[in-house]
Amino acid sequence: MKSAEEALADYQPERERFLQEALAGLACEPKGLPCKYFYDERGSALFEEICELPEYYPTRTELEIMRLHAKEMATVLGKHCLLVEYGSGSSTKTRLLLDQLDSPAGYAPVDISRDHLLSTANRLAADYPGLEILPVCADFTRPFEVPASRIRPECVAVYFPGSTIGNFLPDGATALLRAAHAEVGPGGMLLIGVDLVKRPDVLERAYDDSAGVTAAFNENLLVRLNEELGADFDLERFSHRAHWNEADARIEMHLVSSVDQQVRLGGEVIEFAAGEAVCTEHSHKYTLENFATLADAAGFDVERIWTDPQRWFSVQALRAR
Ligand code: AVI
Repeated sequence: MKSAEEALADYQPERERFLQEALAGLACEPKGLPCKYFYDERGSALFEEICELPEYYPTRTELEIMRLHAKEMATVLGKHCLLVEYGSGSSTKTRLLLDQLDSPAGYAPVDISRDHLLSTANRLAADYPGLEILPVCADFTRPFEVPASRIRPECVAVYFPGSTIGNFLPDGATALLRAAHAEVGPGGMLLIGVDLVKRPDVLERAYDDSAGVTAAFNENLLVRLNEELGADFDLERFSHRAHWNEADARIEMHLVSSVDQQVRLGGEVIEFAAGEAVCTEHSHKYTLENFATLADAAGFDVERIWTDPQRWFSVQALRAR
C-alpha cells in the first residue's frame, strides 16, 4: 500500500492567493478576513484546544452524539461506502464512524493543512490496516478530485462534521452542499454536523472563553499576515470580540482596532479607525426547519437526525435526490 505522502493529491493554496484574499477582504466596507486562514499549524493546534474548553460545547456534544449513534449512522451509509471528509483535521469523530462502517471502500480526508493531514493519514493507516486512505490536500471550497479507490464503492458519502457549514454565508453554504451533492451523486449521502440555535449567553461564552484561547485563535490570523505576508499588524492594538447577531442567527468574531492606525500589507497601506472591527468569522446556528430548507435547495432530503437531550447540536444524514 502507498504511504500517505505517495498517495497525497496536493492542492495546497499558495501564498499569492492568501495575499489577494486578505487584501480584498481588508478593502471591503466593513472589513473582513476569510476564516479558512485560521488553520495553519498553530491555528489548528489552538482550535484543538478550543474543542477541549468547558465553554465550547459543540465538540463534546457532537462527539457524544457520535458515540451513541455511530452504529445507526453506519447502517444508513451502508456497505462498501467511500467516505470523503471535508476539513478532516485530526479525524477524531471519524474514527467512531470508521469503527462501525461495514467494509468501507476507502476514506478520503480532505484538508488544507498539509502536515496535519499527512500525520493524521499515517496514524489512520497504522490503526486501520485494511482501509485504503486517500488523503487530499485542498481547500474543499475549491474544485478538487478524490482519487479512485481500489474497491468500487456502493455509495459515496461526504462526512462534514463540526458544524463548519455554519462558517459559510447562506449562498456559500448552498454552493458547498451542491458541490457535496455533485461529489456523492444521486442516492449518495451527506452526513453533516449542524449546530443549533440556543441561548445567546451560551453562544457568546463558547466564542469568548475565559482562558483566552479563542482570542489567541482569532489573533493568529494577524500573526500569519505578519509572518507569511510581511504585514506589520501590532497585536497589542487589536482585540478579540464575539457577538451574537440575532437577525442573521450567527455568532460573529471580530478583531477590533483600539486606535486610529495604519497597517502595511503587500505594498498597500490600510487605515483602521479606533473601534473599527474586522469580521474574521461567521458561525451560523440553524433551526432544524431552516437547515432542512437549505438541504432541500441543494438537492438533499433529510433522512435521519440525531441530537443531544438539550437539542444543542445535531448530526444529520441527508440523501441526494
Ligand atoms: C470550525 N468551526 C465550526 C468553528 C465554529 O464553531 O464556528 C470555529 C471556531 N471559531 C471559534 N471557535 C471555534
